Amino acid sequence: MKILVFTEKPFAPAAVKAIEDVINASGNELELVERGTREDLLAAVKNANGLIVRSDVIDAEVMDHAPELKVIVRAGAGYDNIDLEAATKHGICVMNTPGQNSNAVAELVFGMVVMMCRNQYNGTSGSELKGKSLGIYAFGQVGRNVARIAKGFDMKVEALDKFVKDEVMEAEGVKPLHDVKELFSQNHFVSLHIPATAETKNSIGYDLVMLMPKGGVLINTARKEVIDEAGLMKALEERPDLRYVSDIRPAAAEEFEKKFAARVFFTPKKMGAQTAEANFNAGVAAAEQTIAYLKDGWNKFQVNK
Ligand code: 3PG
Repeated sequence: MKILVFTEKPFAPAAVKAIEDVINASGNELELVERGTREDLLAAVKNANGLIVRSDVIDAEVMDHAPELKVIVRAGAGYDNIDLEAATKHGICVMNTPGQNSNAVAELVFGMVVMMCRNQYNGTSGSELKGKSLGIYAFGQVGRNVARIAKGFDMKVEALDKFVKDEVMEAEGVKPLHDVKELFSQNHFVSLHIPATAETKNSIGYDLVMLMPKGGVLINTARKEVIDEAGLMKALEERPDLRYVSDIRPAAAEEFEKKFAARVFFTPKKMGAQTAEANFNAGVAAAEQTIAYLKDGWNKFQVNK
């Protein structure tokens, strides 16, 4: 069977080699398309039985072009780029690879936070993380890794996640919160790890950000869609002490940069999971899951039912 790996943002070469080895060893055939266009995707899916992607948009049109497609695996956590309803209608199983790239994202949180606290390394006096409080919004795999690393910095850690029991957070030395207003008003740093859903899109804006303590830093390694950009911009205008870092440029990135200069920082492309290790882990897991589904319907991480 043919397994198409289509990634606009390529995996590290060693990860590609490992994916290739796993697919070849299974007796399936690999087609690799990196940095492809939409047209390339529509052409390549034509005879694909399995499809592995990252943040690449897989909508009903792609599925209409893929009559043989049985399984799509998102090599990563967030699957807001895949039309689940269309997949279900087409009889396609969609899976993600939870946890495989979460440490990489968590490490980038601190990479960006330290950079902001040291004024983007411009030589002026900055501040430390030790003893400061961090609020984690969503205590999934990334949130848990963020909490683990924060302890090493000697930070106080709180988290909010309506799907996670208090005991789970407490076992990891994290104070459970139950109100998003508390998360923002009690923490110097707020790190977002919520998925982009109908409920969360545009949910972080003026009212919440204005609650942050003096010198607050908002960190977004989740999705740009969860931010109400107009509201955040207004808050940054009114509160010159606040800063915003985001792993992916907001829609209004240029305006943010023009208005707030070194108070904001955006990666040029989503970089959280862009490490050799995360690429390897997520890519190999995706290949193995695709093979297992095609072989005997293994669907442990199916996200469309
Ligand atoms: C994820 O959801 O797994 C991360 O945001 C990484 O996405 P990427 O594979 O596009 O880098």
